[in-house]
Amino acid sequence: MERLQTPEAIRQRIWQELVRSSRDRHHAWRTPALATLGPDQRPDARTVVLRHVDEAAERLEIYTDMRSPKRAALEQAPWALFLFWSHRLRWQLRVSVRVSVIDTGPRVEQLWSQVKNTSAAADYLSPNPPGSALEACTQVEAPARHWFGIIDAQVCEIDWLELGSVEHRRARLTRDSWQWLNP
Ligand SMILES: Cc1cc2nc3c(=O)[nH]c(=O)nc-3n(C[C@H](O)[C@H](O)[C@H](O)COP(=O)(O)O)c2cc1C
Repeated sequence: MERLQTPEAIRQRIWQELVRSSRDRHHAWRTPALATLGPDQRPDARTVVLRHVDEAAERLEIYTDMRSPKRAALEQAPWALFLFWSHRLRWQLRVSVRVSVIDTGPRVEQLWSQVKNTSAAADYLSPNPPGSALEACTQVEAPARHWFGIIDAQVCEIDWLELGSVEHRRARLTRDSWQWLNP
């Protein structure tokens, strides 16, 4: 990849790649780690799929089972961080976000009407909550309802790191600012 020189060009490419990753299942940024703070104040992280990126609004979207422990964690501490690494780009992104959990309403039902016809639907139909003990699972009937929900993440700040063969570069950017940092 050519070495982009200006903050404007780098910023534009970051968002271009984020948008691409939400549409291309082979993009390395498709499956970032999402780090949160647990109710016990301990850190937690898990892999998620980046489902949608709104460049203009600087928002990222993922789907989850509303009973997953991360939901309660995020409602208590709505700050989280997405961690991305692309070997092709040689870029790491640490994206700090403020999160809203959306579990009802027209947007949820509209997306669910698409997801329910895919193989991923089973992820949101299990009678057993994610992380519950296996022996506690007794239900065998057909699922009564879906647990599909959206985690909507408003980007606050991005820490960009480029690994170069000669030198590395790093910057912290918000919507209105750019600061070069020592890598
Ligand atoms: C490749 C991959 C993609 C995943 N995508 C998601 C996802 O989009 N949403 C989600 O809630 N969990 C996803 N998971 C499962 C989570 O990593 C995690 O195990 C689950 O959500 C429970 O997390 P929690 O206990 O922190 O709530 C994915 C796991 C893998 C390995």
